[in-house]
Amino acid sequence: MVALKVSKSGGLVVVMLDDPPVNALGHAVRTSLRDIFQEAEADKETIAIVLGAEGKVFCAGADITEFNKPPLAPVLSELLASMDEFTKPVVAAIGGAALGGGLELVLACDARIATPKASFGLPEVKLGLLPGAGGTQRLPRLAGAVAALEMITDGDLRPAQTALEMGFIDQIVPDEDLLAAATAMAISLVKTGRRRVSTGRMDAAQWPAFEEAAKAILGKQPDATEMTAIVESIRNSFNLDFAAGCRAEQALFQELRQGERSEALRYAFFAERQSARVEGVPSRPESPVERVTVIGGGTMGAGIAMAFANAAIPATIIETDEAAAARAIERIGGIYDMSVRRGSLSVEGKATRLSCIVAQVGLDRASEADLIVEAAFEDMEVKRAIFSKLGETTRDGVTLATNTSYLDVDQIAAFSGRSKDVLGMHFFSPANVMKLVEIVRARDTDPQALARIVDVVKRLGKIPVVVGVCHGFVGNRMMARRSEQVDRMLLEGATPVQIDAVLTAFGFRMGPCAMSDLAGLDISWRMRKATGRKAPIADALCEAGRFGQKTAGGYYAYPEGSRTGVTDAGVIELMEQVSAREGVTRRALDDREVLERLIYPMIDEGARILHEGIAARSSDIDVIWLHGYNWPRGRGGPMFYAKQVGPKIVAQQLEAYSAAIGNASLRPFEGLVELLR
Ligand code: CAA
Repeated sequence: MVALKVSKSGGLVVVMLDDPPVNALGHAVRTSLRDIFQEAEADKETIAIVLGAEGKVFCAGADITEFNKPPLAPVLSELLASMDEFTKPVVAAIGGAALGGGLELVLACDARIATPKASFGLPEVKLGLLPGAGGTQRLPRLAGAVAALEMITDGDLRPAQTALEMGFIDQIVPDEDLLAAATAMAISLVKTGRRRVSTGRMDAAQWPAFEEAAKAILGKQPDATEMTAIVESIRNSFNLDFAAGCRAEQALFQELRQGERSEALRYAFFAERQSARVEGVPSRPESPVERVTVIGGGTMGAGIAMAFANAAIPATIIETDEAAAARAIERIGGIYDMSVRRGSLSVEGKATRLSCIVAQVGLDRASEADLIVEAAFEDMEVKRAIFSKLGETTRDGVTLATNTSYLDVDQIAAFSGRSKDVLGMHFFSPANVMKLVEIVRARDTDPQALARIVDVVKRLGKIPVVVGVCHGFVGNRMMARRSEQVDRMLLEGATPVQIDAVLTAFGFRMGPCAMSDLAGLDISWRMRKATGRKAPIADALCEAGRFGQKTAGGYYAYPEGSRTGVTDAGVIELMEQVSAREGVTRRALDDREVLERLIYPMIDEGARILHEGIAARSSDIDVIWLHGYNWPRGRGGPMFYAKQVGPKIVAQQLEAYSAAIGNASLRPFEGLVELLR
């Protein structure tokens, strides 16, 4: 049988899903399962079926790659409906994760026996979907409407013990007893008969609590169509019988599947997994990182050391003197304390992590590690001093990484005299939280060094994206194009409130003006001064001492220490003065223009980045924006969005804006349409 192992003994058929890597329920698996059930029904000798799986994952659910094409019969809901008609008992034996359609498959069985390693989840919501094979109908009937609603809307895994307590599995047995226990259960069900999930309506007594929970969930995410669909579908379990509820669920599922939001979320799922694959770089390193040294114990260095400690990789922080070393440890302790207070870390967890971090003075101890991450100031002279010293004091083969956001990694590599060992690791702040690491491959970086860093970044639970050397790499380089338009549109007549509102309506959690106020306007002001660039509005704000939240205000005012900005009449006046000084007549910009001028130049820069080979694939650019810059996940990423809008339209609009405002920097890259087609 395709993707299944089938054995028969004493009237019992044992079916094992066997389709690595995750036993997804693709068309071939569904067809094979249908055939087995048909054969077992016809075969008089067969008395029951035990359904298990090979591998660590019991079943990851539907094959998501099939969702971009029209569904192929039998679809999972049809297969499970036919299992309902099956007259002999079916017992699921679950020793790994049962997700999505994988959980729905086992819910369609008569009993579920699991091992302590098993876990259960309905993660469809993370793909902008609802469970489409009876999950919203069976789970409430087994576990109660509120518990089902929580599980389906958070999409998270439940361990076996929780599943048992929730009432949707029957028994937990040791790993080695799984098949025997499932067989025993099947034989006992042969005597007592099938035990299907009730097909009647849900008990109305659960309705008020369900409605209250649903209202709270929908209130938090009013725009997520999948949430509304989930609530509607579980509501159906009260109002409709089981078969009608399943039909309605399937209709909702198909509607969501064909929507742009789910398409974007599915795309993001695969894009994230692909970014770790780098052409010409081995998928496993010859010698993985076991110890790290972090040079600098400031905010960034401390966060990086914590990221390693959180993954149980010992980290040594190097500081310039004892006081700074002590401050670094204190800072880290303070951050862990905060997590303990919030309940996200136990006291023991904090102690284990802290025991992984030491802080020392002097670069000499750095050589004990197999990876050294430099997180000192963003200044070429500082980097020169550190990398030339590291080149002398560390052994050949120790990977030397610079944590830089902008600087030329080829130049830094040259300081070390061992450029094959050098690369960039651009962590995002706070480094212990943010998932993205741009790994900057320099001209001479050895593929083994890259493999080692890709591997360790994955072990940190982060997402690696390999990029090439250029100013700002991928993320900051594209961001610069957006920032340029923010300033330009403020000069032409837009307001900070309008610009921020347009991007938050698009899905960003924060707009660029509020974000600059939070991060501080002075950092980019200093950088502009150093490179001779100008941003008339932002420069004027900085000249007026408005660096953002940390001073009197920035684009907004922050009365009485508030963290929410309000419009400042003084800023509007200042912008008017700057526009007059620059000879720009202020006008009202409509929201569409604002949005397109914020997003399309970024897409254009992305196309240039692809053309130059700084990023290997457009999905890598999207992963960077999703995880480093808060791009709304339901919109896939800037390059995915470009394809949804149509590259031709992006190019035409850029051309039109460029002509209208006489700003050549908006002119699209000539290969844009071809590259993004
Ligand atoms: N369909 C197709 N491919 C899948 C898949 C799925 N459901 N789940 C995982 N894969 C692929 C991954 O893309 C990856 O492929 P590559 O090696 O080519 O990159 C491979 O399987 C291994 O996956 P991971 O790298 O993620 O492995 P992991 O061990 O870290 O995690 C997992 C395993 C927990 C199962 C994780 O892959 C996962 O969460 N998968 C998605 C589960 C999911 O969302 N299921 C719901 C599907 S929708 C559904 O079922 C609808 C319905 O109601 C009918």
